Amino acid sequence: MTPFKDIVFTPNEFSTLAKLEKNIFPVLENHGIIKTHRKRVGNVDRKVISLEEIQRYFNIIREFDTLQHEEKAAETMGTGAEQAGPTVSIHSLLKHIDPESQLADSEAFATATAYVAPHPSHKVQMFYNVKGGTGKSTLTAQFVMMASMLGYRVLAIDLDGQGHLTVNLDILDAHERPTVYDILINDLSIDQAILNVAPGLDLIPANLGLCNIEIPLNNKTRREYRLSEAIAKIADQYDLIVADTNPAASILNGSMMVASDRVNIVCATNPLSFHGMSLVMATIDMMQKEFRKELDVKIVPNMYDNREVISQEVLGELRSQFEPFCANSVVNRSADMNEATKRRTTVWDVSSKGSAAHDIAELTQELLKP
Ligand SMILES: Nc1ncnc2c1ncn2[C@@H]1O[C@H](COP(=O)(O)OP(=O)(O)O)[C@@H](O)[C@H]1O
Ligand SMILES: [Mg+2]
Repeated sequence: MTPFKDIVFTPNEFSTLAKLEKNIFPVLENHGIIKTHRKRVGNVDRKVISLEEIQRYFNIIREFDTLQHEEKAAETMGTGAEQAGPTVSIHSLLKHIDPESQLADSEAFATATAYVAPHPSHKVQMFYNVKGGTGKSTLTAQFVMMASMLGYRVLAIDLDGQGHLTVNLDILDAHERPTVYDILINDLSIDQAILNVAPGLDLIPANLGLCNIEIPLNNKTRREYRLSEAIAKIADQYDLIVADTNPAASILNGSMMVASDRVNIVCATNPLSFHGMSLVMATIDMMQKEFRKELDVKIVPNMYDNREVISQEVLGELRSQFEPFCANSVVNRSADMNEATKRRTTVWDVSSKGSAAHDIAELTQELLKP
């Protein structure tokens, strides 16, 4: 069992992740845009790409993208029309590096794009639902790992005493570690509670002690603002900060709403989960009024099964009743999701060709883009 920080991808797996045709990989490798190393698997020496090498690739693409848009902006000076887009053409990248290359003109290159927003549109996000078991912790874990693979500097915050996000990120000794409880109640400095779980991925873990936070937090002054003030102290160090929450309308979750730019509501495509949606939306509405804050809301349908009529019906209802909020991405029910939880890694490590890997990539792209 390989933890997330030690994952390696084969060139084929990497090509699927980066949406590259097979023949593009060797060219990008020759130009040093993708770095690889050799790893012994059984009796064979295989060419593989490590997590850091994956992150490096996406950072190169993003830097190139930013550069290009700056150049374009300079050309069209003053019009202000050029906005950095969420994708960059590999074709133009290769043309830039090797103007003589014939391959750059091939069709495969022309259509290859990397989906990388220069900066996540919403830096602080939370996954939320007053109902348990809808997939909040699972999707939070998969989202932060995917964003980290794309080379963003990510902080994950576990706000559920059950510590499922913590376990998903392979931290098994959280009972000995400081949590948000220590930050909010015992005035521990937030950086003392942060641990590194993989290159570019940090975590503030949770343990059962966090379940007792509501009463002491209730007695604190400025109780709902303490978390956002703590997060503000370290926000500069990250591109993305994502919290998993406890299934309740708690003060702790309210505090995270004060800190957040967006709430992602995970809704399982079953009737009870749908029924609970009105309560969730009402809770968020109440918070917005109380804290005079506009929150961006995205509803993420999860555990969809297109063979089930009820699943189709609930998805249809979600889309019609909450039309402005419903995500375009849908996460299908997949055994890979449970397998990834068991192995405490990304669904991409379970199967790069599976629906779970595809769905998490699409969802991540949607949650990062403007
Ligand atoms: N898309 C999915 N397909 C299959 N199983 C899923 C999916 N999403 C979540 N699960 C499973 O559902 C269960 C509940 O998920 P979890 O993330 O713990 O929910 P929550 O945090 O909302 O309580 C877990 O066993 C998880 O592995
Ligand atoms: Mg959970």
